[in-house]
Amino acid sequence: MKKGLFSKLVATFAAIIAVSFIMTAAFLSYWFESYYFEQRKGQLTAESAHISSIAVQYWKGTISIDRLTELLTAVAQYDSMDIWLVDSYGYPYAVSNPKQQNVLKTQVLTKELEKLRLNEPVDTIGIYGNIFKVPVRTFDIPIFSGGVFKGAIMMHTSVNELKSTLMRVYEIIWISALFAIIISCIVIYYFSQRIIIKPLAQINYVADKISKGEVEKRVNINSKDEIGILAKSFNSMADSLEEVEKNRREFISNVSHEIRSPITSVKGFIGGILDGVIPKEKENYYLSIAYEEVQRLTRLVNDLLDLSAIEAGQFKLRIEEIDINEIVRLCIIKFEQKIHEKRLKVDVLMQDDNLYVAADRDRINQVVTNLVDNAVKYVGEGGTIKVSTKIKGDKALISVFNDGPIIPERDLKHIWNRFYKVDKSRTSKVSTGLGLSIVRSILTQLGEDIWIENKESQGVTFCFTLKRV
Ligand SMILES: Nc1ncnc2c1ncn2[C@@H]1O[C@H](COP(=O)(O)OP(=O)(O)OP(=O)(O)O)[C@@H](O)[C@H]1O
Ligand SMILES: [Mg+2]
Repeated sequence: MKKGLFSKLVATFAAIIAVSFIMTAAFLSYWFESYYFEQRKGQLTAESAHISSIAVQYWKGTISIDRLTELLTAVAQYDSMDIWLVDSYGYPYAVSNPKQQNVLKTQVLTKELEKLRLNEPVDTIGIYGNIFKVPVRTFDIPIFSGGVFKGAIMMHTSVNELKSTLMRVYEIIWISALFAIIISCIVIYYFSQRIIIKPLAQINYVADKISKGEVEKRVNINSKDEIGILAKSFNSMADSLEEVEKNRREFISNVSHEIRSPITSVKGFIGGILDGVIPKEKENYYLSIAYEEVQRLTRLVNDLLDLSAIEAGQFKLRIEEIDINEIVRLCIIKFEQKIHEKRLKVDVLMQDDNLYVAADRDRINQVVTNLVDNAVKYVGEGGTIKVSTKIKGDKALISVFNDGPIIPERDLKHIWNRFYKVDKSRTSKVSTGLGLSIVRSILTQLGEDIWIENKESQGVTFCFTLKRV
């Protein structure tokens, strides 16, 4: 991964640098060429005054054609160009380079003459038959003598000379491009290591450790960029994984603990009976205790199976129209004996005889039973229980209240956890701490809400909603 990301970055940067340098080179050569010829034009225009005075002398017969050619050759060599003198019909009559003699007597200027007659210099590019191998830039400057057009001076500048200068410029550009690429590689390497590659490697390392069970490992990246955000989300994911792992361990230890105590006592009682340690007349008494323990064990196992099935979504909910008021009434009747034993005062408040909701009958029965069971269990002797159902918009609101001590703030958010009991010592014998987890799992699966309303110096209310039909 390290090599991949780095080489991709380098390739991208090298491409960007290359493109920008090619563009620079193109602009520069265009600019350079026009600048060069502009300069050259100025220089040659100055030179042309001298040449035209020689030409005029020739016309006047002051100097011979040989002398004229000689003088032209000298000027041409000095300025590294070729000079032709052309008459007013466009025919050359003197050339600076003897090798170009065969251009004499061929018309080299036609259209240009019009402009030249108007005393306008002309600027062209051409090879003039086969005289030049590569195109040359030519400046034509008219000659006037006594106001009469006497032809023109043609000054050819080879592009070759410019090419070699440009080549040098390109060379410099490419060498600097190469340097730029090398330097940017070093910079990219340094920064990508610091900003991306090392942090990613760290996240990768920690992910590997976590997957091997070291769930307490975290990444330590504090940058404010996307990598920092990734590290943050990664850490919070690790937090929840650690939490899940902690819950799993706790769950296993709780289950083993809950199962071990009834099994130990059942084993003790039956062993005592078999050994004869327990006297015959007490056998029945101990057997009934053992029976209760086995029943408790059965309930525990059933609760656990229910819970895992609900959480795994294996219980197919059978949604039907049910009367929640009827379920509440039947449930209270189920607890009649316990209510009587604890001399409790029970209030049932309902707006109507029936309140129809869409839910799974058996599961809602389990919810109401668990909540009423808790109320009956945790209310004080001679206390009050209030169960009410009412309509709230398109929902039915069911609440189960019991007076007595409220649930401490710090326990509120744990109360839904499996095996969580507020008062571990007092309730350990009669409860397992699974009731509320089951309640919440069922309601979550139905897409409904449940919450606790603690009322200081009054008691505790559990409220939940169901969808009305
Ligand atoms: N009505 C209530 N009043 C006071 N405390 C309550 C009430 N209902 C629940 N609790 C507290 O919440 C804890 C968890 O309740 P939950 O129903 O999950 O378990 P449990 O009643 O202890 O055991 P189980 O329901 O499995 O027999 C209880 O141990 C108790 O401390
Ligand atoms: Mg309970």
